[in-house]
Amino acid sequence: MGARGDRPRGDQMVAVIEGQGWLDKPSYKIEHGMTLALNLLGPAGVRVRDFLHGRWFGHPLHPMLTDIPAGAWTAALVLDGMAALAPRPEGFNDAARATVGAGLAGAVAAALAGLADWQFTHDNARRVGLVHATLNTAATGLYSLSWVQRRRGADQQARWAGAAGWAVMAASSYLGGSLVYRHRIGVDHSDKELEPRQFTPVLAETELGTEPRRAQARGVAVVLARAGGSIYALGDHCPHLGGPLSKGHLSRGQIICPWHGSRFDLATGACRRGPATTGPPRFATRVRAGQIEVRRIPPVTAAPPGRVLARQQYIHDQEEAPGDRRP
Ligand code: FES
Repeated sequence: MGARGDRPRGDQMVAVIEGQGWLDKPSYKIEHGMTLALNLLGPAGVRVRDFLHGRWFGHPLHPMLTDIPAGAWTAALVLDGMAALAPRPEGFNDAARATVGAGLAGAVAAALAGLADWQFTHDNARRVGLVHATLNTAATGLYSLSWVQRRRGADQQARWAGAAGWAVMAASSYLGGSLVYRHRIGVDHSDKELEPRQFTPVLAETELGTEPRRAQARGVAVVLARAGGSIYALGDHCPHLGGPLSKGHLSRGQIICPWHGSRFDLATGACRRGPATTGPPRFATRVRAGQIEVRRIPPVTAAPPGRVLARQQYIHDQEEAPGDRRP
């Protein structure tokens, strides 16, 4: 059996989509149209985009919203099956119509959030995302037809349209999962190491100028930057898609990712602008004997007593003396 035959069928299907280079042309046209529309909104466009990414939520919005149509339409499928078997199907038909309607509302919201996320994908992920969006549009169209038929009382046709919509949605959901698990869209790309746990020298203080600098702290990539007389350190990999923050630039106490413009507060690590929805890990800094030293700040501020993270937080609080961040 060849290498291709060893792969699961779903994997083969995704690989076929990934190889469709002709999808790039319509993709870029859609992306440019979206960029133009959001730019026309001015600063409100940035807020709309951030809202759709889920920055306010600290988590991508799209995967959460997709649960609404998937759940509602699956419930409608079950209700349709019960209506087909029941001697008095009126109650099941009413419930199915309501769940189809709820699924349609959720599908529109999920589509808007998904488009905002898709705009910042590339290459294979972008192609898979476009097919995912097209299938979702087809499923939404079939459920719209189903909903209209239900309102007209054509319940039998409505059930067939709904069943077809559910099958298309299921195929699309597979691609959605592939975008997360295979292409890592929507997952946090920042380094999750807890190292270094002790202050570790990473760079001579004189080597840090006005531009951000990358350094290694026990195998963990960090970006060092000066702002307001202090030295700050964050994880170098942007949580969005892993862009190198050390190649970005500084503005008003924030570092801006060079890939898609996410902004992170140097002092707190908080994400101030998407498409990232969360910030990179933060490091405590101090200068000793002319060397900048960094130590990972525990990712939680509180934990049950006795837990490892609580102990790390305790150590951090003990060591973080006023002025430690000062050069
Ligand atoms: S990698 Fe996309 S904003 Fe940083």
